Amino acid sequence: MKVLGIDIGGSGIKGAPVDTERGVLLAERHRIPTPQPATPAAVARVVGEIARHFRWRGPVGCTFPGVVKGGVIRTAANVDKSWIGVNAASLFTRSTKCTVLVLNDADAAGVAEMKFGRGKGHDGVVLLVTLGTGIGSALFVDGVLVPNTELGHVEVDGKEAEKRASERAKKKHDLGWKAWTKELNRVLAVYEHLLSPDLVILGGGISSKFDEYAKHLVSRCKVVPAKLENDAGIVGAALVDRPASSARGRVSGPASRRGARPGPPRAARRGGPRGRRRS
Ligand code: BGC
Repeated sequence: MKVLGIDIGGSGIKGAPVDTERGVLLAERHRIPTPQPATPAAVARVVGEIARHFRWRGPVGCTFPGVVKGGVIRTAANVDKSWIGVNAASLFTRSTKCTVLVLNDADAAGVAEMKFGRGKGHDGVVLLVTLGTGIGSALFVDGVLVPNTELGHVEVDGKEAEKRASERAKKKHDLGWKAWTKELNRVLAVYEHLLSPDLVILGGGISSKFDEYAKHLVSRCKVVPAKLENDAGIVGAALVDRPASSARGRVSGPASRRGARPGPPRAARRGGPRGRRRS
């Protein structure tokens, strides 16, 4: 299946058509700087522009850096607060004239990583942590996503996790690799204490620099860098809630679908292609 994946970030909004069976981009990604202020209307215009760039007429999946329930934005920690309560799925469906489904950015990256990256074939509890402007989290139990976990806002020794160990915190406090990894270790220790993950995958821009800080990492469980790096959000956005995402790393459907378009009742969907494929 071909789906246009769009990843909304604090500095850029990028998109590309994705082959959802192979998890690869089918064209060079198109990036437009995030408008400032990043209001719903301004971002919707950019999302529409990306769809027009690819002359897109098919399904679209889009990420958002906040809690997304039924296509509606519930939190906006690092973006314009006017997003709260907005039905982003409906808004983007109007601006692209395509059916758009919306999910949290870290959840999208996690879904992509579980299907095509380091989480592939992994049972048990897998936690993907994205380190960027904020800290995002995607939690999987036997390959099934528990959406909107928002672990970046968990308090760690009296301070929000993302204020300690995001990539932005590293820059803001001018931390070297060793000092920053010490903060990351404190954050991961809390996550490990809460969830006892079998595997932690570190994503976000900084995951490509894993070699710089791996030697300072102290952790009780296995920690690995993400494989998909920059494309994880776009690929994961394209995988949202469609039959092709019914294998490992799938996203629970009805919540992200509601509001975007009418669909069959929940019970009817359960009869759909949700069986777990063993690869
Ligand atoms: C937001 C999350 C998001 C993360 C990474 C956090 O501040 O609350 O929803 O996944 O940043 O963008």
